[in-house]
Amino acid sequence: MTSRRRGGAGRGSGKDGSGKSGAGKGASIHVSVQRTPTVRLKRKKGRTNSQQRWLQRQLNDPFVSEARRRGLRSRAAFKLMELDQRFNLLKPGARVVDLGAAPGGWSQVSADIVGPNGVIVGIDLLPIDSIEGAIFIEGDFLEPDAPDRLKRELGGAADLVLSDMAASSSGHAGTDHLKIVALAEIAFDFAATVLAPGGAFVAKVLQGGTEKTLLTLLRGNFDKVIHAKPEASRKESAELYVVATGFHGAAVLKSESELED
Ligand SMILES: C[S@@+](CC[C@H](N)C(=O)[O-])C[C@H]1O[C@@H](n2cnc3c(N)ncnc32)[C@H](O)[C@@H]1O
Repeated sequence: MTSRRRGGAGRGSGKDGSGKSGAGKGASIHVSVQRTPTVRLKRKKGRTNSQQRWLQRQLNDPFVSEARRRGLRSRAAFKLMELDQRFNLLKPGARVVDLGAAPGGWSQVSADIVGPNGVIVGIDLLPIDSIEGAIFIEGDFLEPDAPDRLKRELGGAADLVLSDMAASSSGHAGTDHLKIVALAEIAFDFAATVLAPGGAFVAKVLQGGTEKTLLTLLRGNFDKVIHAKPEASRKESAELYVVATGFHGAAVLKSESELED
C-alpha cells in the first residue's frame, strides 16, 4: 500500500495537521537534559516489569517531552536533526529515502528541510500517518520488489538514503545484533543502486562500529565515513549511526573483493 501527500487534507499529526513540525535547519536541537524530578509510576496490575520500566523511562525522558511539545512523532527526530547539523545531509530540493520510517520523525525533519521541491519516500512494516511532501509505502523493505517500488516513487537518483531500521527485539542480543547488521548491509546494497554521485548514506549500526564488510564497502565508495552517536541516542543503548558522504557513483561502484585486493 502506498500513501501520498502533496498538500491537501490528511491525517498528519503535526501541530497544524500537516505532519510537518518546524524541525527545519534553523530549529534548535538543544534539549535540556537537566534532571526534572523523577516521575514515579504507580504499579498497575497486568503490567510486566519491562513495560513498567519502559513507561517509567518515557515519562522521565526529556527528548520524549520535547518531541511532543514540538509536534514531532518520535524522539528519534532529534537524532537526525543532530546528524544533519553535523554533516549537512539535508538540502532544499533533495530526494531522500527513509528506510524504517515509522512513526515518521525522520521524515518530518527531512520534509521541513527539503521543502516543496524535494521528494521523500519512506517505507515501513507499519502504517504511517501522512506528512506533507512525503510518500509512504507500507511494506517490508526485504521483499524483492521493495527497491523498485521505492525507486518508482522517488522518480530519480537519491541525494540521501537513511536507514533507521531495527527489527523488534528477539530478547537475544546476538540475534538482534545480526539482524541490525543485515538490515544495514541490505540498505547499503540499495543505496548503491539509487544514490546520485556525491550522495550520502546513514544507517543504524551497533557499538563496536560497522561490520568489516560494510565498512570496507563504505570506505571504498564514499569520500568520508564517520560513526556518530547523537545526544538523543540513549547512553545505555548500543546504537550508533554510520554516516557516509560523497558517494563516488554507481557507475564506479567497487565490490568488496576489488577493495580488498
Ligand atoms: C527506530 S524505528 C524508526 C524511527 C523513525 N526513524 C522515526 O524517526 O520515526 C525502526 C523502524 O524500522 C522498521 N523496520 C524494521 N524492519 C523493517 C523492514 N524489514 N522493512 C521496513 N521497515 C522495517 C520498524 O517497523 C520500525 O518502525
